[in-house]
Amino acid sequence: MKIEEAQRLSKLPIYVFALLDKLKADERAKGKDLIDLTIGSPSHLPPKEAIAALIKALEDPKSHKYSSFEGDPAFIDAVCQWCKQQYSINIHKDEVVTLVGSKEGLAHFYLAFLNPGDTLLVPLPMYPSHFRGPVLTGAEPIVLPTVEKNGFLPELDIIDKSIADKAKILSLSYPTNPTAATAPREFFEKAVRFAKKHNLILIHDFAYAELYFEGQKPISCLSVPGAKDVCIEFHSLSKTFGMAGWRLGFAVGNKQLINALKNIKTNLDYGPFAATVKAGTAALKVGDNYLDEMRQSYQRKRDIAVNGLNSLGWQLKKPLATFYLWVPVPSGFNAMSFVEHLMHKADVAVSPGIGFGDLGEGYVRFALVETDEKIAEAISRMKKAGIKYNG
Ligand SMILES: Cc1ncc(COP(=O)(O)O)c(C=O)c1O
Repeated sequence: MKIEEAQRLSKLPIYVFALLDKLKADERAKGKDLIDLTIGSPSHLPPKEAIAALIKALEDPKSHKYSSFEGDPAFIDAVCQWCKQQYSINIHKDEVVTLVGSKEGLAHFYLAFLNPGDTLLVPLPMYPSHFRGPVLTGAEPIVLPTVEKNGFLPELDIIDKSIADKAKILSLSYPTNPTAATAPREFFEKAVRFAKKHNLILIHDFAYAELYFEGQKPISCLSVPGAKDVCIEFHSLSKTFGMAGWRLGFAVGNKQLINALKNIKTNLDYGPFAATVKAGTAALKVGDNYLDEMRQSYQRKRDIAVNGLNSLGWQLKKPLATFYLWVPVPSGFNAMSFVEHLMHKADVAVSPGIGFGDLGEGYVRFALVETDEKIAEAISRMKKAGIKYNG
């Protein structure tokens, strides 16, 4: 039998992270003790209230049935309250959809709105779901290049009118994975005006909403007056509550956009496991202490890593959000060769910038999701191996 995959799979750019997994497996097979800073899987644990709620829900026979398409009303209420309390946005219960993690929601949202041949505007470097998801639908991402000099914000003013008018979606995500960039309110105001002017759906992926430092709280795009006319915002419990493996997120915003996402999902899944949703409801109600401690733990890791890398010649600024560092590679290397060099010489694994789009060439991403000691150890291994930044 000749097995032929659908053409949409062959259109995907090479998955650099599969290559990276192989490199790590090869090193581990040689007995190397890698310090793995590749994947943005949080190091903090879920709130104890969430774990207790999960255990309780597991004992409830109702938890083991198919979940309702409309979602658990208690979770939806908790989401509405959370949005009000954390971001000062008013969300009605019809404007919420529960997701099996925000990655699932993003992929299905693109599938619900993009036809083959459609275009969408995507700033790069960015989380791969925003360009790989659309490619799977047959649409074509139009890259908005972002660079450090402009704070990794796309220059919306210079986009050709015909390109903006033809596009269907503008995808944003601030704080950004991988660059750790944040966006000011004025940028979101501009983005909402731009989306309205060119009749674009505005996606805001807000996965790192709570992972910020020095009191610099990120802005919800929906807090811009009138944003709900065009915007859907994706939230994740993975990063906020250390629940990456649980697969729970939600999207809020424009009701028509939410309904289309609900509609496509009724054909594809039944939503997350009911017991996980009960745990998520408990998590959304934990007090500020949990979140403050979480932020302090990543701020410590950020400081150890930035001070350490700067002592090796880098001149990194301390990012104000996320647990990532976007680090230029020393001259003589490209992203992938520096990843291999770090892995072979220092037993430290990081991600190549090209995994986040071509514009990530020349950078690697450190995910600071190990213990403070391991992060300090990674720096001292680099120092011992003679790794320096030389411009
Ligand atoms: C920007 C961004 N959005 C979405 C996700 C997906 O998160 P989840 O599916 O766990 O909610 C990630 C995960 O790394 C991310 O970095």
